[in-house]
Amino acid sequence: MSKITVVGAGNVGATVADTLAQNEVANEIVIVDIRENFAEGKALDIWETAPIRLSDSRVVGSTNDYSKTAGSDVVVITSGMPRKPGMSRDDLISTNAKIVKAVTESVVEYSPDAIIVVVANPLDVMTYAAFLASKKSRNKVFGMAGILDTARYRAFLAEELDISPKDIQALLMGGHGDTMVPLPRYTTVAGIPVTQLIDADKLEAIVDRTKKGGGEIVKLLGTSAWYAPGQAAAQMCEAIIKDQKRIFPVCVMLDGEYGQSNVALGVPVKLGKNGIEQILEVELDAAEQTLLDNSSVAVKEVMKALDDMKLF
Ligand code: NAI
Ligand code: 2OP
Repeated sequence: MSKITVVGAGNVGATVADTLAQNEVANEIVIVDIRENFAEGKALDIWETAPIRLSDSRVVGSTNDYSKTAGSDVVVITSGMPRKPGMSRDDLISTNAKIVKAVTESVVEYSPDAIIVVVANPLDVMTYAAFLASKKSRNKVFGMAGILDTARYRAFLAEELDISPKDIQALLMGGHGDTMVPLPRYTTVAGIPVTQLIDADKLEAIVDRTKKGGGEIVKLLGTSAWYAPGQAAAQMCEAIIKDQKRIFPVCVMLDGEYGQSNVALGVPVKLGKNGIEQILEVELDAAEQTLLDNSSVAVKEVMKALDDMKLF
């Protein structure tokens, strides 16, 4: 019997729950939201798709009643304000830190063994907030951003090269912001280094578009993305519940890896039933390491803003 809770029934949370149900990732999926009847409504709509798409996953909703989430194996925290045009992810910190803290404490009360996947922004700092609030080890509380950012990078490459996105493998590290570090040296098309298939200036333009990929959607929609973020978080849940031991870029508190400590940053990890089972340390050249160091500095500045709020 497996159980996943999704906190936040908004655009991202509903997409996570819908994807989990469609793929029958867990026997039970609970959606929680603070807005009266909102999670119940979303859950009922998703549950009513079950006879159409032949899913056995039972989906239920709850208005802030965490007793319904008891015994969850994985909890995804999407509750928080999304970006509006002109806002950076960091502008969300004061509102979302309080939400993430309160939600994490409620989650841990009813599901002390749950693995927590953070989605709320600013992602790296909200991962840090959930890490502090949960008092769990870092392999049990981590954040989703790298799968999304890598997917954007791969989608843009597929478009430019006029090939299937299925054949593109890529690595991207660092914070979930404009300092993220896509790594062309670790990007291949069916095993062929991408640098052999695309001009350097075009590749640079794609790397730049990837870094601003979240903002591109905000400008188009007036709020942030949900289909790709929701699918990305659901993919992490599936790797954990099915003990797939998949390799994904995931935001985790670093403890010396890549020369970084006391900072939540995206790095490649192995994801299985124990959460993060390994952090993979790939070799970076001097220029790549500098980009990662700069990203770490940017994230640490926002982490300091959280520390200054004295919530923990
Ligand atoms: P949304 O506004 O559609 O949904 C947020 C939901 O959280 C709302 O339904 C709201 O009622 C609920 N909520 C607020 N406070 C709550 C609380 N204390 N307890 C339970 N529920 C609560 O926003 P959307 O688009 O779903 O985005 C959610 C978060 O995810 C935002 O912070 C956004 O920036 C972030 N995000 C992160 C991404 C990533 O790559 N990590 C990608 C896309 C969005
Ligand atoms: C995104 O990258 C805003 O973090 C959100 O779409």
